Amino acid sequence: MKLSALFLSLLISLTSLHCSGDPVLTFMAGGAPNEIAYWESVVETFEEETGIAVRLIRQTTDTDQRKQSIILALRGRRSDPDVMLVDVAWIGQLAASGWLMPLNDYNIDTQPFFSPVISLANTYEESLIGLPLYVDGGLLYYRKDLLEKYGYDSPPQTWEQLLEMAKTVQNGEREHNSDFWGYVWQGAQYEGLICNALETFVSAGGGILDSHGNSITSTEENVKALEFMISLIHEHAVSPPNTFTDMKEEEVRMTFQAGNTLFQRNWPYAWGLHNAKDSEIKGKVAIAPLPSFPEHQSAATLGGWHAVVSAYSDMPEEAVQFLQYITSYDVQKDMTLNLGWNPGRSDLYENETIQSSAPHLVELKPVFEGAVPRPVVPYYSEISQILQKQINAALAGQVSAAQALENADKGIVNLITTHENAQ
Ligand code: GLC
Repeated sequence: MKLSALFLSLLISLTSLHCSGDPVLTFMAGGAPNEIAYWESVVETFEEETGIAVRLIRQTTDTDQRKQSIILALRGRRSDPDVMLVDVAWIGQLAASGWLMPLNDYNIDTQPFFSPVISLANTYEESLIGLPLYVDGGLLYYRKDLLEKYGYDSPPQTWEQLLEMAKTVQNGEREHNSDFWGYVWQGAQYEGLICNALETFVSAGGGILDSHGNSITSTEENVKALEFMISLIHEHAVSPPNTFTDMKEEEVRMTFQAGNTLFQRNWPYAWGLHNAKDSEIKGKVAIAPLPSFPEHQSAATLGGWHAVVSAYSDMPEEAVQFLQYITSYDVQKDMTLNLGWNPGRSDLYENETIQSSAPHLVELKPVFEGAVPRPVVPYYSEISQILQKQINAALAGQVSAAQALENADKGIVNLITTHENAQ
């Protein structure tokens, strides 16, 4: 009897706690396990400092999946999440749909942030719609101990050199490690594949759209670049056969981190994890710009994530306060030191602690400044879908490089015409 009374009163107090009506700010973020852990600690400190309760809604690492769940919430005009992290690849689409709250009334100082990023990604019809949390660019990670072991004194500058080194080291290492691979990169059918393809295309003198917005998908340069990507898997077998079925950022990162690979293409986030205490390859890794074809420039796709507020947020004031907090000098500094991300604030690159603890980021600043954006058009996601399907089929050997790019070109030209006619 006593026990059930106790249980009842406990239940009542729990229910009243739950219904006390204190609003909770919701924040949607995703990524590798260390990123989630980082956001948990940021949320906790913000709560302590402001007394505003925040619920973290955890997402995966895959940008396409993250986009789907965000669009689902926004299309349903749900008040949660209030604050979200969105990819530079699709922030324009969310803004064009009217789903992001304009921040103009909140006196936000955009001066400390990279100004091309603010104008390219964070401004929509003259309204500020977000702030850059971090800037991404594709990089070549390599094992300096292994290059040295096989007599190479610097990382490759051309794709041919990369192939030659990958073959030599793979042959040598396979004698005692049958799982060893020369080069791992993102080839699965998703957004990351387009980032890899764009880098290879541009490093051969190609691209996706020209400066007038016309498709240059089916050019000789792109065919040569795609044939090279295919040859890495099939002809030279320096990239694993699951490149086109499984390889996304984390799969690639983990393969490299297991100590089984010479080269890896990945974003800056992998650096912190490779050099973590429990990493097999701590201290053995270095980074360089990605290679190019002779007489062409190396290219890094411009990536990165932005903090935005939902147009349907029922706590806009608190949401802006949180957004300003996570993009503040101190939190961005902490984020860079903890996660190895390139901050969206350019003023942090002058910080002495950053310069001494993350010299690689400061050194590679030109790579990020010169990074190549994906086409900045409101229908970019549709372009990406077409390319993902065709390029992935070519990597799988189902269609030739030339045919895949011709098919993609037709689809993209149709898309452009449809959008022009609708205007
Ligand atoms: C990274 C980049 C993002 C890109 C994605 C592709 O998260 O920051 O811009 O779209 O990778 O997988």
